[in-house]
Amino acid sequence: MNPLPVRMVVAAALIDPDGRILLAERPAGKHLAGTWEFPGGKVEPGETPEAALIRELREELGIETEASCLAPATFASHGYDHFHLVLMLYVCRKWQGTPHGHDGQRLRWERVNDLFAIDMPPADRPLIGTLAALI
Ligand code: C5P
Repeated sequence: MNPLPVRMVVAAALIDPDGRILLAERPAGKHLAGTWEFPGGKVEPGETPEAALIRELREELGIETEASCLAPATFASHGYDHFHLVLMLYVCRKWQGTPHGHDGQRLRWERVNDLFAIDMPPADRPLIGTLAALI
């Protein structure tokens, strides 16, 4: 049996009207600090994935969206050293507000084909190809 705890994490590919995707830098002191991720975070016990993503986008970026604006896109199943991550990626094209890094994290907007060259967390990288085919 897999000895590692399994963590469910949700993330969003926020896509702007020009077709660019938002990446957020993981803050210093956190796991994989300095890499550029699809913003999101852990699903808490009893929380639906959509509610978790809406909460994370509010807490991390200060934007508001709703479940009907979150389209399931693809997922990753990745073994990190100390846990196994199931990362569910949603596409979101509609939200209110302008994203800001609420914990001071830097943000950048990039075209999907440019994501391959960016230092992203290992769990996020395999999502890029499917995302590119979908959008
Ligand atoms: O953001 P948070 O620390 O809550 O994420 C939980 C775990 O999921 C972290 O260890 C992080 O490395 C991983 N993660 C990831 N890709 C993301 C978001 C989180 O690999 N887009």
